[in-house]
Amino acid sequence: MALRVDVLTLFPRMLEGFLTESILGKALERQLLQVDVHDLRDWCTDKHRTADDRPFGGGAGMLLKPEPAVAAIEALQSPGCRRIYLTPDGVPFSQEIAQELSQQEHLVLLSGHYEGIDQRIRDEVIDQEISIGDYVLTNGTLPAAVLIDAMARFIPGVLGEEKSLTHESFTGKLLDFPQYTRPAEFRGKSVPEVLLSGNHGEIEKWRLAQRIEKTRQVRPDLLNNQPS
Ligand SMILES: C[S@@+](CC[C@H](N)C(=O)[O-])C[C@H]1O[C@@H](n2cnc3c(N)ncnc32)[C@H](O)[C@@H]1O
Repeated sequence: MALRVDVLTLFPRMLEGFLTESILGKALERQLLQVDVHDLRDWCTDKHRTADDRPFGGGAGMLLKPEPAVAAIEALQSPGCRRIYLTPDGVPFSQEIAQELSQQEHLVLLSGHYEGIDQRIRDEVIDQEISIGDYVLTNGTLPAAVLIDAMARFIPGVLGEEKSLTHESFTGKLLDFPQYTRPAEFRGKSVPEVLLSGNHGEIEKWRLAQRIEKTRQVRPDLLNNQPS
């Protein structure tokens, strides 16, 4: 059964292009996964469709109110589904998490806005909290898109060539190697000889060395975290 994802946001239109273009657009067309986007305001019951309110105890900004968000998630959830809140104070997102989530049957993704959400939403209807990085965005719609995009790549059939998953950044805790296409010379810069040699053993060796060197320079933390 195809992975089903429900996204709950105040800004459903932010996802329109994302869900129709490129590899993800094709995957949805081919029903390799299903994504439904919902407007959180559809669960607001007052005539102004109010989704937010001021924080108790003072402080800047507004918080998503508990009633609409909890009602929405309870309406969308299914037995055994994973309910995820995108938040900068969540667990950092990774390839491992993307792969694990891609194997689920049903996900409900909640995007926050303003200063965040009432804690009771988290306590009541959230199973997992995920951050897409150590920076703060205005709302969680793009983070939800990031999750969907990274997960979709693990669903069989979504990528044309499955092997493109095995040789890229973070696979085996290494970053990717430099890639070249035609022309063989551009502005006086030539493609490394080894790539033109046709010697696949040497090419693989060169690529691995490049991956290790790039990782050492840019993300030494990945090398230090290698399993022993
Ligand atoms: C302005 S942020 C709230 C930040 C919150 N006050 C804090 O300091 O942790 C508003 C919403 O954007 C989303 N968001 C912002 N940055 C994010 C990140 N790095 N990862 C995931 N979601 C993020 C969350 O859904 C959050 O509720």
